Amino acid sequence: MSVSLCEKYHDCFKIGAAVNNYTIQKSRDLILTHFKSITCENQMKPEPIHPKEDAWNFSPADEIADFARNNGISMRGHTLLWHQQMGKWLVSDENGGYAQREIIKERLKTHMQTIVNRYKDIIWCWDVVNEAVSDKDSDISTSGDYPLDKILRDGIWRDAFGLDYVETAFKLASEIISELAPQTKLVYNDYNACVPSKRERIFKLVDGMIKRGIRVDDIGIQGHWNLTYPNDNEIRRSIETYASLGCGVQITELDISVYENDKFPEVNGDLSEIYEKQAVRYENIFKIFREYRDVISCVTFWGVADDCTWLDRFPVKEGRKNYPLLFDCEHKNKPCFERIMNL
Ligand code: GLA
Repeated sequence: MSVSLCEKYHDCFKIGAAVNNYTIQKSRDLILTHFKSITCENQMKPEPIHPKEDAWNFSPADEIADFARNNGISMRGHTLLWHQQMGKWLVSDENGGYAQREIIKERLKTHMQTIVNRYKDIIWCWDVVNEAVSDKDSDISTSGDYPLDKILRDGIWRDAFGLDYVETAFKLASEIISELAPQTKLVYNDYNACVPSKRERIFKLVDGMIKRGIRVDDIGIQGHWNLTYPNDNEIRRSIETYASLGCGVQITELDISVYENDKFPEVNGDLSEIYEKQAVRYENIFKIFREYRDVISCVTFWGVADDCTWLDRFPVKEGRKNYPLLFDCEHKNKPCFERIMNL
C-alpha cells in the first residue's frame, strides 16, 4: 500500500495544502511526503504582498516559493483580486474618494504583472478573483443571462470600479498570463459554491464571461465544509454544473469542521467518535471526487495538520479547538487519512 497521499491519488488529481511560513517548517515532513501543490495561506493576497502602491512585501511569499522550488512542489497562486485583505490604496484617490476607473485599472495591472512575473516559474494556476458572488438570495432566473447587479456582492470593488470589475480582472490576467506564463490556469474561486442559489449565480457569472470571449479556465470550489453540509448530491451537482461550462473544477480550500455551526460546544477528551464520523464523511467526499477525476485537477486542503487551522478562531472568535484536517496535532494520521488512503 502506498504511504503518500499524492502518490495514492496520482492518477486522479493533484493533492495540495495551504501553508504559511510557520507550517513549512513545523509540518515540513508531512508536506514533503503528501503534497505536490501548495498555496500561500495569506502571503500572496493583495494587501500582505502589496500594502501600498510603492511598497512590496515579497519575502514571506518568496520563502514559501523557494521551499516549493527546492522540493519539486508547484503552487496555486492565491489571489490577485479580493475584497478582503486588500490595500484600499488600490481604489482610492488622495481625497478619500475613489480613484478614476483608468487609474484603478492601471494599478491592478501593475499589481498583477509584478506578482505573476515574480512567481511564474512555480505557479500552475492563479485564483484571479476570489469571492465576488453575492450570498443574497435574489431570484435571477428572470433577469436575463448576465444580471451582474444581482450576481455580484455589494462592496468596494463594484462601488469603486463598476459591475465589470470581475471581467476586467480576468481580461487583464489573461493578457498578462498569455505573455508571461501561458500554461498557467485562470481560476474563479468562491465559498458556498455548492449552495444551489449561489451556484446558479457563479454559473451565470462565468457563463457570461465565457460568452463574451473572456478566458476562465477553472472554477474553484473552496470546500470549507462540515460533517453534514453540503450534502453529497449538491457536491455532485455542483461539479457537474461547473464542468458543463467547459471549465475544469478544483477543490481549493478543503477542510471538514467537526462542528455544524458556531453554537456547537467544543469537543474535548476522547475524540474517537467524532474522528470516526469525520472519516466516513471524508471517505464519501473522496469517493465523489474520484468519480469526477476527469474534470477535477486538484484537491487542496486548507492547512496541513490540526495544530494549525484557521477554524480554531472561526466562526467562534474567542476560540474553539477544531480538527478539520487529515493529520492530528501531533502530525499522526487520523482515521480520515487512513480511510481515503484505502479507497
Ligand atoms: C477564504 C479565503 C482564504 C482564507 C480563508 C480563511 O476562504 O479564500 O484565503 O482567508 O477564507 O482562512
